[in-house]
Amino acid sequence: MTAEPNIPVHVAVIMDGNGRWARKRAMPRHLGHRSGVGAVRKIVETSAKKGVKYLTLFAFSSENWNRPREEVSKLMGLFVEALQREVDDLHRNEVCLRFIGAREMLQPKLLKMIAAAEAQTAANTGLQLQVAVAYGGRWDIGCAVRRLAARAAQGEIRTDEINDDAIAAELALSGMPDPDLLIRTGGEQRISNFLLWNLAYAELWFCDTLWPDFDEQDFERALNFYAERERRYGHTGDQVEAAS
Ligand code: FPP
Repeated sequence: MTAEPNIPVHVAVIMDGNGRWARKRAMPRHLGHRSGVGAVRKIVETSAKKGVKYLTLFAFSSENWNRPREEVSKLMGLFVEALQREVDDLHRNEVCLRFIGAREMLQPKLLKMIAAAEAQTAANTGLQLQVAVAYGGRWDIGCAVRRLAARAAQGEIRTDEINDDAIAAELALSGMPDPDLLIRTGGEQRISNFLLWNLAYAELWFCDTLWPDFDEQDFERALNFYAERERRYGHTGDQVEAAS
Protein backbone atom coordinates (compact mmCIF):
# COMPACT_ATOMS: atom_id res chain seq x y z
CA MET A 1 0.00 0.00 0.00
CA THR A 2 1.52 3.38 -0.97
CA ALA A 3 1.21 6.15 1.57
CA GLU A 4 -0.97 9.19 0.99
CA PRO A 5 1.00 12.46 1.03
CA ASN A 6 2.01 13.60 4.53
CA ILE A 7 1.36 10.23 6.10
CA PRO A 8 3.95 9.62 8.85
CA VAL A 9 6.40 6.86 7.98
CA HIS A 10 6.71 5.80 11.63
CA VAL A 11 4.00 6.14 14.29
CA ALA A 12 4.69 5.37 17.97
CA VAL A 13 1.85 4.88 20.45
CA ILE A 14 1.56 5.02 24.25
CA MET A 15 -1.62 3.02 24.83
CA ASP A 16 -2.90 4.50 28.09
CA GLY A 17 -6.23 4.29 29.89
CA ASN A 18 -7.06 0.57 30.05
CA GLY A 19 -7.38 0.62 33.84
CA ARG A 20 -9.70 3.64 33.88
CA TRP A 21 -11.77 2.12 31.06
CA ALA A 22 -12.31 -0.96 33.23
CA ARG A 23 -12.97 1.04 36.41
CA LYS A 24 -15.70 3.05 34.67
CA ARG A 25 -17.44 -0.27 34.02
CA ALA A 26 -16.78 -1.66 37.52
CA MET A 27 -14.57 -4.35 35.96
CA PRO A 28 -11.14 -5.58 37.10
CA ARG A 29 -8.21 -3.77 35.43
CA HIS A 30 -7.12 -6.78 33.44
CA LEU A 31 -10.38 -6.69 31.48
CA GLY A 32 -9.40 -3.19 30.37
CA HIS A 33 -6.13 -4.60 29.01
CA ARG A 34 -8.04 -7.42 27.32
CA SER A 35 -10.30 -4.88 25.68
CA GLY A 36 -7.20 -2.95 24.61
CA VAL A 37 -6.16 -5.82 22.36
CA GLY A 38 -9.13 -4.98 20.10
CA ALA A 39 -7.84 -1.42 19.73
CA VAL A 40 -4.38 -2.81 18.88
CA ARG A 41 -5.92 -4.89 16.09
CA LYS A 42 -7.71 -1.79 14.76
CA ILE A 43 -4.64 0.47 14.72
CA VAL A 44 -2.56 -2.24 13.03
CA GLU A 45 -5.18 -2.65 10.28
CA THR A 46 -5.66 1.09 9.81
CA SER A 47 -1.91 1.78 9.76
CA ALA A 48 -1.40 -0.79 7.01
CA LYS A 49 -4.37 0.63 5.08
CA LYS A 50 -3.08 4.21 5.34
CA GLY A 51 0.44 3.31 4.27
CA VAL A 52 2.20 3.86 7.60
CA LYS A 53 5.38 1.78 7.26
CA TYR A 54 6.45 1.41 10.93
CA LEU A 55 4.22 1.19 14.00
CA THR A 56 5.74 0.91 17.49
CA LEU A 57 3.42 0.17 20.44
CA PHE A 58 4.28 0.59 24.13
CA ALA A 59 2.67 -2.48 25.72
CA PHE A 60 4.63 -2.86 28.98
CA SER A 61 7.25 -0.53 30.44
CA SER A 62 10.29 -1.23 32.62
CA GLU A 63 8.33 0.47 35.41
CA ASN A 64 5.18 -1.68 34.90
CA TRP A 65 6.93 -4.56 36.75
CA ASN A 66 6.03 -2.58 39.89
CA ARG A 67 2.28 -3.14 39.34
CA PRO A 68 0.41 -5.68 41.48
CA ARG A 69 1.65 -9.22 40.78
CA GLU A 70 -1.73 -10.36 39.55
CA GLU A 71 -2.01 -7.55 36.99
CA VAL A 72 1.52 -8.25 35.67
CA SER A 73 0.77 -11.94 35.38
CA LYS A 74 -2.56 -11.30 33.58
CA LEU A 75 -0.79 -8.96 31.15
CA MET A 76 1.90 -11.55 30.37
CA GLY A 77 -0.86 -14.14 29.85
CA LEU A 78 -2.62 -11.72 27.51
CA PHE A 79 0.55 -11.30 25.40
CA VAL A 80 0.82 -15.09 25.08
CA GLU A 81 -2.85 -15.35 24.11
CA ALA A 82 -2.64 -12.48 21.62
CA LEU A 83 0.39 -14.08 19.97
CA GLN A 84 -1.39 -17.45 19.75
CA ARG A 85 -4.43 -15.85 18.17
CA GLU A 86 -3.03 -13.11 15.95
CA VAL A 87 0.32 -14.12 14.47
CA ASP A 88 -0.99 -16.19 11.53
CA ASP A 89 -3.30 -13.35 10.57
CA LEU A 90 -0.50 -10.77 10.84
CA HIS A 91 1.67 -13.03 8.68
CA ARG A 92 -1.05 -13.38 6.02
CA ASN A 93 -1.23 -9.59 5.93
CA GLU A 94 2.54 -9.28 5.35
CA VAL A 95 3.18 -7.71 8.77
CA CYS A 96 6.70 -8.11 10.17
CA LEU A 97 6.49 -8.38 13.99
CA ARG A 98 9.35 -7.59 16.39
CA PHE A 99 9.57 -7.18 20.15
CA ILE A 100 11.81 -4.61 21.80
CA GLY A 101 12.70 -4.59 25.50
CA ALA A 102 14.53 -6.52 28.21
CA ARG A 103 13.65 -10.04 27.02
CA GLU A 104 15.63 -11.72 29.76
CA MET A 105 12.90 -10.53 32.16
CA LEU A 106 10.17 -12.50 30.34
CA GLN A 107 8.98 -16.01 31.09
CA PRO A 108 10.34 -18.83 28.88
CA LYS A 109 6.91 -19.58 27.35
CA LEU A 110 6.41 -15.99 26.19
CA LEU A 111 10.02 -15.75 25.01
CA LYS A 112 9.61 -18.87 22.89
CA MET A 113 6.44 -17.53 21.30
CA ILE A 114 8.07 -14.17 20.60
CA ALA A 115 11.03 -15.87 18.91
CA ALA A 116 8.67 -18.03 16.81
CA ALA A 117 6.50 -15.05 15.80
CA GLU A 118 9.57 -13.01 14.83
CA ALA A 119 10.98 -15.88 12.78
CA GLN A 120 7.66 -16.54 11.03
CA THR A 121 7.16 -12.91 10.01
CA ALA A 122 10.81 -11.82 9.53
CA ALA A 123 10.73 -11.65 5.74
CA ASN A 124 7.43 -9.76 5.51
CA THR A 125 7.69 -6.41 3.77
CA GLY A 126 4.35 -4.86 4.80
CA LEU A 127 3.80 -2.98 8.05
CA GLN A 128 6.83 -3.21 10.38
CA LEU A 129 5.26 -3.66 13.82
CA GLN A 130 7.35 -3.25 16.98
CA VAL A 131 5.81 -4.17 20.34
CA ALA A 132 7.70 -2.75 23.32
CA VAL A 133 7.51 -5.13 26.30
CA ALA A 134 9.67 -4.66 29.42
CA TYR A 135 10.97 -1.61 27.55
CA GLY A 136 12.26 1.71 28.89
CA GLY A 137 14.01 4.50 27.02
CA ARG A 138 16.70 4.75 29.71
CA TRP A 139 17.21 0.97 29.64
CA ASP A 140 17.63 1.20 25.84
CA ILE A 141 20.19 4.02 25.98
CA GLY A 142 22.00 2.30 28.89
CA CYS A 143 22.36 -0.93 26.85
CA ALA A 144 23.67 1.01 23.84
CA VAL A 145 26.23 2.89 25.95
CA ARG A 146 27.45 -0.30 27.64
CA ARG A 147 27.93 -2.03 24.26
CA LEU A 148 29.82 0.95 22.83
CA ALA A 149 31.97 1.27 25.96
CA ALA A 150 32.84 -2.45 25.75
CA ARG A 151 33.86 -2.07 22.09
CA ALA A 152 35.96 0.98 22.93
CA ALA A 153 37.62 -0.90 25.80
CA GLN A 154 38.45 -3.74 23.36
CA GLY A 155 40.01 -1.19 21.00
CA GLU A 156 37.41 -1.91 18.27
CA ILE A 157 36.29 1.73 18.11
CA ARG A 158 37.79 5.03 19.20
CA THR A 159 35.83 7.10 21.74
CA ASP A 160 35.61 9.96 19.22
CA GLU A 161 33.65 7.59 16.95
CA ILE A 162 30.84 7.42 19.53
CA ASN A 163 28.54 9.90 17.81
CA ASP A 164 24.76 10.13 17.20
CA ASP A 165 24.84 7.52 14.42
CA ALA A 166 26.90 5.05 16.46
CA ILE A 167 24.51 5.36 19.42
CA ALA A 168 21.39 5.08 17.24
CA ALA A 169 22.80 1.93 15.63
CA GLU A 170 22.91 0.22 19.05
CA LEU A 171 19.35 1.11 20.09
CA ALA A 172 16.35 -1.21 19.93
CA LEU A 173 15.02 0.58 16.82
CA SER A 174 18.38 0.33 15.04
CA GLY A 175 18.00 0.53 11.27
CA MET A 176 14.53 2.07 11.44
CA PRO A 177 13.63 5.71 10.90
CA ASP A 178 12.76 7.63 14.06
CA PRO A 179 9.03 7.99 14.82
CA ASP A 180 7.49 10.99 13.05
CA LEU A 181 4.38 11.01 15.23
CA LEU A 182 3.80 9.97 18.85
CA ILE A 183 0.22 9.31 19.91
CA ARG A 184 -0.69 9.07 23.59
CA THR A 185 -4.23 8.21 24.66
CA GLY A 186 -5.76 8.49 28.14
CA GLY A 187 -5.41 12.24 28.78
CA GLU A 188 -1.84 12.39 30.14
CA GLN A 189 0.74 14.48 28.32
CA ARG A 190 4.10 12.87 28.99
CA ILE A 191 6.60 10.49 27.37
CA SER A 192 6.86 8.06 30.35
CA ASN A 193 10.33 6.74 29.47
CA PHE A 194 9.25 5.55 25.99
CA LEU A 195 11.69 5.95 23.06
CA LEU A 196 13.69 8.76 24.67
CA TRP A 197 16.38 8.98 21.98
CA ASN A 198 14.20 8.26 18.96
CA LEU A 199 11.39 10.69 19.78
CA ALA A 200 13.73 13.71 19.61
CA TYR A 201 11.88 15.28 16.64
CA ALA A 202 8.53 13.48 16.77
CA GLU A 203 5.31 15.46 16.58
CA LEU A 204 3.33 14.80 19.77
CA TRP A 205 -0.42 14.19 19.74
CA PHE A 206 -2.42 13.58 22.90
CA CYS A 207 -6.09 12.67 23.27
CA ASP A 208 -8.47 11.92 26.14
CA THR A 209 -9.84 8.72 24.58
CA LEU A 210 -9.09 5.72 26.80
CA TRP A 211 -7.08 3.14 24.82
CA PRO A 212 -9.80 0.44 24.45
CA ASP A 213 -12.05 3.09 22.83
CA PHE A 214 -9.36 4.34 20.40
CA ASP A 215 -10.79 3.90 16.92
CA GLU A 216 -10.24 4.80 13.28
CA GLN A 217 -11.67 8.33 13.75
CA ASP A 218 -9.19 9.07 16.57
CA PHE A 219 -6.37 7.81 14.38
CA GLU A 220 -7.61 10.00 11.49
CA ARG A 221 -7.54 13.01 13.83
CA ALA A 222 -3.94 12.24 14.78
CA LEU A 223 -2.96 11.85 11.12
CA ASN A 224 -4.70 15.12 10.20
CA PHE A 225 -2.83 16.90 13.00
CA TYR A 226 0.44 15.45 11.67
CA ALA A 227 -0.34 16.45 8.07
CA GLU A 228 -0.59 20.09 9.13
CA ARG A 229 2.74 20.25 10.96
CA GLU A 230 5.80 21.89 9.45
CA ARG A 231 8.82 19.82 10.43
CA ARG A 232 11.82 22.10 10.83
CA TYR A 233 14.47 19.96 12.61
CA GLY A 234 16.04 23.12 14.05
CA HIS A 235 15.90 25.13 10.77
CA THR A 236 13.80 28.27 10.26
CA GLY A 237 10.44 28.15 8.48
CA ASP A 238 11.98 30.14 5.56
CA GLN A 239 14.80 27.62 5.20
CA VAL A 240 12.30 24.75 5.11
CA GLU A 241 10.25 26.53 2.45
CA ALA A 242 13.32 27.30 0.32
CA ALA A 243 14.36 23.64 0.44
CA SER A 244 10.95 22.30 -0.64
C1 FPP B 1 -1.71 1.37 30.09
O1 FPP B 1 -2.99 1.59 30.64
C2 FPP B 1 -1.67 0.10 29.38
C3 FPP B 1 -0.84 -0.93 29.65
C4 FPP B 1 0.17 -0.91 30.74
C5 FPP B 1 -0.91 -2.20 28.90
C6 FPP B 1 -1.12 -2.07 27.41
C7 FPP B 1 -1.48 -3.40 26.91
C8 FPP B 1 -2.42 -3.65 25.98
C9 FPP B 1 -3.17 -2.63 25.25
C10 FPP B 1 -2.72 -5.08 25.78
C11 FPP B 1 -2.39 -5.71 24.52
C12 FPP B 1 -1.18 -5.37 23.79
C13 FPP B 1 -0.69 -6.14 22.81
C14 FPP B 1 0.42 -5.61 21.97
C15 FPP B 1 -1.20 -7.49 22.51
P1 FPP B 1 -3.12 1.70 32.22
O2 FPP B 1 -3.29 0.33 32.77
O3 FPP B 1 -1.96 2.47 32.75
O4 FPP B 1 -4.44 2.53 32.37
P2 FPP B 1 -4.81 3.59 33.49
O5 FPP B 1 -3.85 4.76 33.31
O6 FPP B 1 -6.21 3.97 33.15
O7 FPP B 1 -4.67 2.91 34.82
